[in-house]
Amino acid sequence: MKVLVVGSGGREHAIVHALSKSSKVTEIYAAPGNAGIAKLAMCVNIKDTDVNSLVEFAKAEAIDLVVVGPEAALAVGVVDEMTKANIKAFGPTKAAAQIEASKKFAKDLMFKYNIPTAKYESFSDYEEALAYVKANSIPTVLKYDGLAAGKGVVVAMTMDEAVEALKDMLLDDKFGHGKVVIEEYLEGPEFSFMCFVDNENVYPLEMAQDHKRAYDNDMGPNTGGMGAYSPLPFITEEDYNYAMNEIMIPTAKAMVKEGVPFKGVLYGGLMKTKNGIKVIEFNARFGDPETEVVLPRLSSDIYDAFVAIVDGNKPVLEWEDCYTIGIVLASKGYPGSYEKGFVIENADSDDIYHMGTKIDDNGNLVTNGGRVLFAVAKGNTLEEANKKANKLVDEIKCENLFHRTDIGAKAYKK
Ligand code: AMP
Ligand code: GLY
Repeated sequence: MKVLVVGSGGREHAIVHALSKSSKVTEIYAAPGNAGIAKLAMCVNIKDTDVNSLVEFAKAEAIDLVVVGPEAALAVGVVDEMTKANIKAFGPTKAAAQIEASKKFAKDLMFKYNIPTAKYESFSDYEEALAYVKANSIPTVLKYDGLAAGKGVVVAMTMDEAVEALKDMLLDDKFGHGKVVIEEYLEGPEFSFMCFVDNENVYPLEMAQDHKRAYDNDMGPNTGGMGAYSPLPFITEEDYNYAMNEIMIPTAKAMVKEGVPFKGVLYGGLMKTKNGIKVIEFNARFGDPETEVVLPRLSSDIYDAFVAIVDGNKPVLEWEDCYTIGIVLASKGYPGSYEKGFVIENADSDDIYHMGTKIDDNGNLVTNGGRVLFAVAKGNTLEEANKKANKLVDEIKCENLFHRTDIGAKAYKK
């Protein structure tokens, strides 16, 4: 079977790696892919949002299955167009992907169907928003929700910060002219629950936790994610049942009722608060870097599972009984400004996924993004996995990278 994976990050590298283990898959293509993916797949120079070229390529190569990674590709309708061209594609339609693209759509859906999430109000008038913030408690969460480009989330710990953020969003139109959603502040560990969804049917993947802050001990600015681990010792069976029965299954059913049935990976960004588990956000795709620690634990055939979802059958999902920890190596300066083009050596292991690399004109592997590499290790305990992942990281030679050393540590250090 021939498979085309759309995307170019660590997530897509992990998907390609999992597909390469399938006995059914003979050829893998990636559009556009990256330097690491190129070791396992044929990279084709097509942008992940160039729908027409992707469809033309898939037709010309008689691709049996397309797997879409990034949200941007879902949002421009890659799955819709592939399906119209009679090519099997794994992922939600553009309409269903709204659950990620529009905060208002997701929030309205959760309220209508009683899916637990933070209370919120939406405002376009600065004075009204200010009055609401003043009448409610601090901390509070302000999310820009306009149609214009850009998205801002501010967790305001003081009234001054909240007022500042409201001014930015509603008076100065820092992100464009739009609305602000003011949300109840929730507290507790966050975790990622990705499920394969086929209309009303929900098939859970193993859970993972991302680490969003740049430096050890959750210090520094928020990033796209600096590391992850799986599974999660702090999630009890009761938590799992609640997340399935009160959140993921009702959401899949709600999407069907709303006329936008979901197929693909539904990602619940959840928080375990002292008042129960609540939804922070939904994504319409595999998480990055969660995918890079979850898929290495999958022992069943991922190609069969993708096809089962596309065809409306029950997928087989079996997991290795071990822990995985993955550490991001990021360019110094990230998530702020950073330089590219530094040579990387000793990153040949199959357990290193590429997030932002390229081969330069001299044939060297060089840094080419904020997040550059992702080193994953397995262990019988989280501590063992952490040690092995750090060892893998220490072997990589590059003068412009930094990383966290404490991924997963909260779960095993008392
Ligand atoms: P979002 O883009 O909605 O996922 O928000 C980004 C981050 O802001 C989340 O990962 C949380 O860490 C934080 N956050 C969002 N909503 C809340 C909330 N209601 N209470 C506390 N933290 C939040
Ligand atoms: N790791 C967070 C995300 O994929 O959105």
